[in-house]
Amino acid sequence: MTAQLNPRGDVAVLVPAAGAGVRLGPGAPKALRPLAGEPLLVHAVRRIAAAPSVHTIVVAAPAADVGSVRAMLAPVAPVTVVAGGAERQASVAAALAAVPAGPEIVLVHDAARALTPPELVESVAAAVRAGHDAVIPVLPVVDTIKEVDAGEVVLGTVDRSALRAVQTPQGFRRSVLTAAHAAAGDPLTDDAGLVEKQGVPVVCVPGSEYALKVTRPFDLALAEHLLVAGA
Ligand code: C5P
Repeated sequence: MTAQLNPRGDVAVLVPAAGAGVRLGPGAPKALRPLAGEPLLVHAVRRIAAAPSVHTIVVAAPAADVGSVRAMLAPVAPVTVVAGGAERQASVAAALAAVPAGPEIVLVHDAARALTPPELVESVAAAVRAGHDAVIPVLPVVDTIKEVDAGEVVLGTVDRSALRAVQTPQGFRRSVLTAAHAAAGDPLTDDAGLVEKQGVPVVCVPGSEYALKVTRPFDLALAEHLLVAGA
């Protein structure tokens, strides 16, 4: 029996949380690193569980930590925990395979985006519910972007007005995500990329500054400040 949140909800959220977090420096797997005293994954799951449409949450944890992650999340929300894979894509596929019958909308959300507001979960889900097969939250790119060669010499300047920085949760009609993973080849860094390869249009909705991905030590410090300030 899979743990459920809102039995009338129509959304399953997959949380890949099996990454090592090499760019954060030595330490525990990234999703288990503390942010203001609690693991990133706890913050992330608490916010997902606060979104009213969510029926099911499936977390892909590092294989060695499945038992401890299950115990850690039990007081936070009803969550199914599976072992992740060597690449993010394999972790998402493992979580997708554990979604029970019912939810027809599937969101994929990085544990590392620990401060993502429940409202963003709802707005992505709403756009899928409204008829879009694939939906991604995005922000405009603020820096000027240069393309460089292997020697760090500039080849050219990219027109940033046509660029978007992509966040999670990314939302999909369940059948579309399942088909995209079944057809997947080389690992990509996001799920929308797999769906794009299937020729499915991917629609953008406004993202959130709070959905920043904790990747480097600076991001962890920034996230702590945001939490103290009430995020
Ligand atoms: O490495 P990156 O920051 O892109 O990872 C994004 C998310 O994917 C993180 O939440 C990480 O834990 C997860 N991941 C995973 N399995 C892997 C690698 C990354 O679940 N093998």
